[in-house]
Amino acid sequence: MSQLAAHLETPPTTEVMLSVNDLKVSFPTDDGLVEAVRGVSYEVNRGEVFAIVGESGCGKSVSTMALMGLLPKTARIEGHATYLDQDLLGIPERDARSIRGSRVSMIFQDPMTSLNPVYTIGRQLAEAVLAHHRVAPKVAMERAIEMLDVVGIPQAKTRAKSYPHEFSGGMRQRVMIAMAIINDPDVIIADEPTTALDVTVQAQILETLLEAKEKVGASIVLITHDLGVVAGVADRVGVMYAGRFVEMGDVNEIFHATRMPYTAGLLGSIPDLDSDVEALTPIEGSPPSLINPAPGCKFRARCPMARARCAEEEPALAATDRPGHTAACFFSDELIGDPNASEIFKPEWTERTVQ
Ligand SMILES: Nc1ncnc2c1ncn2[C@@H]1O[C@H](COP(=O)(O)OP(=O)(O)OP(=O)(O)O)[C@@H](O)[C@H]1O
Ligand SMILES: [Mg+2]
Repeated sequence: MSQLAAHLETPPTTEVMLSVNDLKVSFPTDDGLVEAVRGVSYEVNRGEVFAIVGESGCGKSVSTMALMGLLPKTARIEGHATYLDQDLLGIPERDARSIRGSRVSMIFQDPMTSLNPVYTIGRQLAEAVLAHHRVAPKVAMERAIEMLDVVGIPQAKTRAKSYPHEFSGGMRQRVMIAMAIINDPDVIIADEPTTALDVTVQAQILETLLEAKEKVGASIVLITHDLGVVAGVADRVGVMYAGRFVEMGDVNEIFHATRMPYTAGLLGSIPDLDSDVEALTPIEGSPPSLINPAPGCKFRARCPMARARCAEEEPALAATDRPGHTAACFFSDELIGDPNASEIFKPEWTERTVQ
């Protein structure tokens, strides 16, 4: 092969913007140590949308709030995380502050808790600029108005003078998106940004978030409990269960080549617009306690495929038969070639396989 051909065949380099390595978070409580995050690793490339999906309490928020320095002081944090080549954990607060809220920003589920009711929207956005840049207040306000316009607030100049309570829930979430992009970040962490909104507004806000991301050229970590939300939005997906990732891969892999029974269960819980509600098969039971969790796979009590081995050791997140696709299940090969893996949660499947 000529040198030129070799050069042309080199894939474009992907730049890792955010890297999280074996992150663990626990909280001492009166009932014992809550192991909220039990070893989470992932990378987010430039421009990519990485979705973190899982049921309530699985550690989605805690694992990202750790990166933003937003956990209570009692939290014990271990592991590594970097933004480009800069450490995010275990560094002086002053150094972290120059990254957080500027290079890496965060959007929360409930905008009312992040907005101050006594200041105008414009002032709060302008202050976010002034916290990171030495510019005149007038310039910061101009930037605030420009960002309100970007996120689709009509008459941005006038609306900048409004107070948070004068905006609807969807409008407030647009303001939070404006806040998240105002300092031109490289990574936006969006924690259930649409959950508190009604369904029609949810789609608009997600669209606005994606447009805003394109505008500033950022990557997104999108946190949601709803696997249905990530289709058509995410590039890659990590499925979390009981403080760990149990499956990770390209979005199409997760939907069409599922290799972990828990993900199959989540897929079965997505309402299908083409069929009736009866088609939904929710996963029975609830996640285990994270205080002194029993050994073995944490999903086994709810898993139709579970066997004796699953109680003995916890399966690692390991390579599957598919490239770039990992799963934490000893029996993931049994899902190969099954286009409709969520069927394993239907009573007929259990009756057929358990003799
Ligand atoms: N300050 C704290 N002290 C003790 N336990 C905590 C604390 N904060 C979170 N936890 C526990 O950590 C676990 C993970 O919580 P987290 O908020 O990350 O879940 P989540 O996946 O974001 O859920 P949701 O979808 O409901 O937002 C839960 O069991 C929660 O009760
Ligand atoms: Mg959460």
